[in-house]
Amino acid sequence: MKAAKQIQKAVFPVAGLGTRFLPATKAQPKEMLPIVDKPLIQYAVEEAYAAGIRHMIFVTGRNKRAIEDHFDTAYELESELEASDKHELLALVRSVQPSDMDCSYVRQARSLGLGHAVLCAQPLVGDDPFAVLLADDLMTGPPGGLPVLTQMVNVFQRVQTSLLAVQEVPREDVRRYGIVAGEPAGNRVIRVRAMVEKPRPEAAPSRMGVAGRYILTPAVFDCIRKQARGQGGEIQLTDGIAALIESEGVHAYEYEGRRYDCGSKDGFLEATVALALDHPEVSSRFRDYLRKLDLG
Ligand code: UTP
Repeated sequence: MKAAKQIQKAVFPVAGLGTRFLPATKAQPKEMLPIVDKPLIQYAVEEAYAAGIRHMIFVTGRNKRAIEDHFDTAYELESELEASDKHELLALVRSVQPSDMDCSYVRQARSLGLGHAVLCAQPLVGDDPFAVLLADDLMTGPPGGLPVLTQMVNVFQRVQTSLLAVQEVPREDVRRYGIVAGEPAGNRVIRVRAMVEKPRPEAAPSRMGVAGRYILTPAVFDCIRKQARGQGGEIQLTDGIAALIESEGVHAYEYEGRRYDCGSKDGFLEATVALALDHPEVSSRFRDYLRKLDLG
């Protein structure tokens, strides 16, 4: 029997313009916006690490140097903390970059779309299946359960095809998502038959919306390269994945947990409140503060 392929690399496309969050994103990447005390990109990297992935590949653009610095050694800061015996803070700073984790960076010169960003990572990904995480989608697993990407890696071991994280979305919101339709293929798993990017509610084949977690086979690169520009003149990842449905098969997985769209102001605020209420250091004082609010 052929050995099941393991997922060893994760791609983080972080070259978008972040226009929904201007002016905060004028001079810094939206992936560096913090939720409580960690930047969005760190949550995504930790999720990939928890899923057993050790090689992180960032597709960066202009104004993204802060991300490279965040996952690099901060010599001055570390020696200051060491000299002043701030060992807990030192351990915290060092924990961002575990010694067995490798980071690589590739530049997307122009924001031509998510599909194009993924294609930029091909020379670093090579010929194995890989994960893609959109850090502005902050995903939390169910209380006491597995993180979302770990759930997906487990499902991938069984299906061995490209796998998309999906969730049911309200009918009026389908125009904000890639939407998949298909038939059940096991617990929470769907064999995908069709996929469309941001359909009108009346044209949507289902309400299953794709969230920012994917496991993709390397065949997707050829599909992206061959496709025409899609919606908004961008090179869409959805179109590349749609081409895989015929050739290799694609599955979708209805993940357990929650997604916060932190590329939008509403989602960012919801994530901040939810994670603050769960944060060991601030939760009890923050809960008291919220209780006392007069919300009129
Ligand atoms: P978004 O659709 O959220 O676009 O991209 P955006 O430009 O980041 O943000 P808005 O809509 O203007 O506010 C989804 C993901 O794809 C990445 C983004 O960084 C984000 O993680 N992306 C998008 C790229 O890396 N390159 C692109 O050309 C487009």
